[in-house]
Formats: sequence, structure tokens, C-alpha cells
Amino acid sequence: WKQAMDFQFDYLVIGSGIAGLTFALKASRNGSVAIVTKKDKLETSTNYAQGGIASVVGPDDSFQLHIQDTLNAGDGLCHQDAVDLVVRTGPDRIRELVELGVPFNASVSSSGQFDLGREGGHSRNRILHAHDMTGQAVEKVLIGAAEANPNISIFENHLVLDLLVQHQSIKAGSVTLQQQDICRGAYVLDTAAQEIHVFRAHAILLCTGGAGKVYLYTSNPDVATGDGLAIAYRAGATLANLEFVQFHPTCLYHPQAKNFLISEAVRGEGGRLIDRRGRAFMEHYHPLKDLAFRDVVARAIDSEMKKTGDDCVFLDISHKDPEVLKKRFPGIYEKCLSLGIDITRDPMPVVPAAHYMCGGILTDLNGLSTLDRLYAIGECACTGLHGANRLASNSLLEAMVMAHQAAIDCARRMELWHKEGLPKIGVWPVPRRAQSDPLNSEMVLIAHNWDIIRRLMWNYVGIVRTDKRLALAQNHIAHIRMEIREHMPNIPIHSDLVELQNLALVAELIIRSAILRKESRGLHYNLDHPQKDDARWLKDTILVRPPAEE
Ligand code: SIN
Repeated sequence: WKQAMDFQFDYLVIGSGIAGLTFALKASRNGSVAIVTKKDKLETSTNYAQGGIASVVGPDDSFQLHIQDTLNAGDGLCHQDAVDLVVRTGPDRIRELVELGVPFNASVSSSGQFDLGREGGHSRNRILHAHDMTGQAVEKVLIGAAEANPNISIFENHLVLDLLVQHQSIKAGSVTLQQQDICRGAYVLDTAAQEIHVFRAHAILLCTGGAGKVYLYTSNPDVATGDGLAIAYRAGATLANLEFVQFHPTCLYHPQAKNFLISEAVRGEGGRLIDRRGRAFMEHYHPLKDLAFRDVVARAIDSEMKKTGDDCVFLDISHKDPEVLKKRFPGIYEKCLSLGIDITRDPMPVVPAAHYMCGGILTDLNGLSTLDRLYAIGECACTGLHGANRLASNSLLEAMVMAHQAAIDCARRMELWHKEGLPKIGVWPVPRRAQSDPLNSEMVLIAHNWDIIRRLMWNYVGIVRTDKRLALAQNHIAHIRMEIREHMPNIPIHSDLVELQNLALVAELIIRSAILRKESRGLHYNLDHPQKDDARWLKDTILVRPPAEE
């Protein structure tokens, strides 16, 4: 491999969703910003978000109510300070989005400025939305602003391989007083040019989104391979709460509908879950019925499917005015119609699918990880907002609030960072290899192991877990990781291989976290420990890479 370029910026932002773009726009006021993104700049989870952004803007709402709903969803594990921060400063961030030009739907009545939707677990209508394509509307405006900004450079098709970490010793004479690790940048594979660049920066921001692709069925786009979690862990940053994987109750069940979500807003507008015989079932599971918290609804569907042996359940909103439905859910209406399902007449076949990682890289309220100069924002981070289960539509809000916090923190530190300068970095520590050849026969190992991991996680580490299945999953994944390690030297570096390594590591970390938590709470439900155990488990599950794994 050629060591191609040595780039230097004030900020290196990894990921081009709402977290990365919001940070970049703010940070560009006091420095140069590189945004690297592994595919097309619009290929982000943000772009696929349907429901919207929860925030206290309605006349009948209050910070206290939003805080309480978030805490209730989080099932005891939310960090109160993170919840306060996100909820209370959320409306300021919404105002900024509106000023940038995001076209949230306006209220048709005189009771408020916005049309506010309802989703599971919310005690008020508080979801700002742009029809059912909110993420797309946000992404379009933010990308437009970033592209027009002379201080921001966007590098598409650039996949981060690993972070650059400098080990520093603070000495008094010959005695080492303290060891300190500092993140200095990243090695980045330019997948189009097939070159590995060095990107050095004063602050490095992981905004890489989630890890839904670790499961067979997911609402996430193909890019969601947990890269940020894996590279942060390898760099020595602390991760937390990875057992809390949120399964969205309603993804479209159709052979041609890869990853297509049916927004919870459909249930917010009166949609009801029914079985194949047309019987509503949520009343048997929770008093809030179809608008119960997501973990409850996903488990109820799982249980119905297991009981009946059916492949899916159905979501029916055909009792509503067809014109209202077409206007409120144009994306869902069109997509379903293209597959022969007219939602104004037919119930939609749906199944739960992996949707959101509630744990992640542990950060403080400035988005700073436990590794100096490394920040994490958005789905890859764990600020403590979501606890054991995320309240619907809190994630885009969190990404904006934490991007703002991180930008302020970096601006405060930048003068000192400039004085210190950036150390020189060595070349990527791998031998020169042959160029990647997609026809290389060993590529089959990659595709095969991707498939096995995703099936393993779905079947053994899914919505309902047991000690036995988790133990078996741990054995399987150890074997898969060993196979990848042993055979990797024969395969040229290729983005699929890098993603596979990340996916396998993240799977292993999710399993390890799930094994550690010997109770059931929020999204983690283990039949062998069906009760919540506050006396022993009212705490985060922490993972740090042991020195032996370096
Ligand atoms: C949805 O539209 O149902 C997804 C919203 C979210 O996950 O926050």
C-alpha cells in the first residue's frame, strides 16, 4: 500500500449524518474541518430517519414531561444530567435547524407553530417532522450548508481503518508519573484510489452511527457496521451498555423491501397491530397498547409470532381518511404501493428489526470520550440519555445537542492545541500488498462470515435472550474472529473486510455485555433472569480493552 497523503486539519469528523454535519458547521467558525465518510455523503442513517425529532415546542408540553418520558423509557439507567441537558437545550437546536431551512410540517390549527406527531412512550404530541421523511429533509439542508462552507472539505469513499493514538509519559527524572493516551487522527482508506492516507487533527469526532448490520434483519442502511464502536474500542476508549439494542417493532415484511421502516408515527396516528386473523393483540401486553414503549411492543410481536408460527404481524391504518394518509405518510404510501400494498385499504405486513444501538462510546456532557481529543456524537456514543431503552425520536435531538456541546468544548481548547502543534505520524503499519482484487477467491470468506455473524446475532442475541444462547454465541463469535485473524493476512485490504472485522468485534462486545448483565431491564430481556434487579444492576455495563488485546 502506498502511504498517499498526510492531511492536516483542525478537526477530523468521521461520518456525515446529523451529528457530524452539525458539529462541522459549528466548528468551521474557528478552524478547518475534514469530514470523511465511507460511501456517498448522503448514505447515512439520518437520511433514512422517518419519524422526526422530539422536542418541547407544543403549548401543552413541558421540559418536565419530556424528561419524565425519557426516564421512564430508559428504565432506571438514564443519566439525569444528560437527560436534562438534551431536553432543556433541544428547542434551541430545533430553532437553528428551522433557521437553516429545514421544512418541518406546520400546524394546521392555531394551537401552535408545528404539526407535532406522537410516538410510543410520549405523553404529549412532540415529534417535529417533515412528512415521513424527516431525516432526508434535515440531511439535505445540512449537506447543502456544509458544501457551501469554505472551511469544510468532504471526503467521500474514505473509510477509517484505525485511530492514531500517541502514548505519552509524564516523567519526573527517570520516574514515570503518568501515562496518557492522546488521539491524534486516523489512518483512512481511500476506497476509490486504493490508497491509505494519514489524517492528523487537533480534535477527532466519531459520528459513525449505529451497528444494525450486526443483525440479520435491520432498519439500518448497509453502512451501519459499528465502525466507530470498533475503532474506539481498539484505540482504548471505554464503551458502555452495548447489550441495549433497540428493535423497532415495525419494519415492512416483504422480500423486496430491504430495511424499509414503517414509522412509529403510523401508530401515533391511530395504526393498530393485528394478527393474521385481524385481531388486535397489544391490549394483552400493556395498558398503552400500540403506543407502549418499543421494547414492550417488539417483545409482544415476537411472542405473537412464536405463538402462532406466523412470519409476521400486520399494521392496519386503513380506517383513516385515505387523503390524510397520503399527505401525512407519502414515503410509506408510495413504497408500499410499489410493492402492491395500498395502505389506505390493506394492512401492512411487519416484523421487528434491529434499529438503534442505545449504548456506545462513553462520553461526558461535552461528547468527550475517555481518550483525550476523541469525541463521539450521535448513535455511536453513550451519553447516558437513552439508558436501557431510547424514547422514540430522541436520537436526532441528542445528536444536535451533543454536536453543539462538543463544538463549544473544542473552541475553548483550540488555542492551546494550536500552540502545542500536531506531532508527525508514521506510516500505516502493514506490509505492502497486492491491490485488492474483488475476484480473489478468498473473498468468499468475507461474505460467508458476514452472513454467519448476522444470523448468529439474530437467533442467539435477539429480542429475547437466554444464558445458554449467549454462551453459545460467545463461542461461535470467538471462532469466527479467530478465522478472520488467521486468514486476513492473505486477503488484500478491502472495505468489506474492514467492515467484517468491525462487525465481528462489535458482535463480540454486544454478547459480552449481554452476558455481564444478569437481569432483565429495558431492551435486554433474558429468560433466565426475567426480573429487574436494582440492588445489583442499576449501573452501566462498562467495557475497556484489556492490555493483552492491544
Ligand atoms: C420511527 O419513525 O418510527 C423511528 C423514529 C425513531 O426511531 O426515533
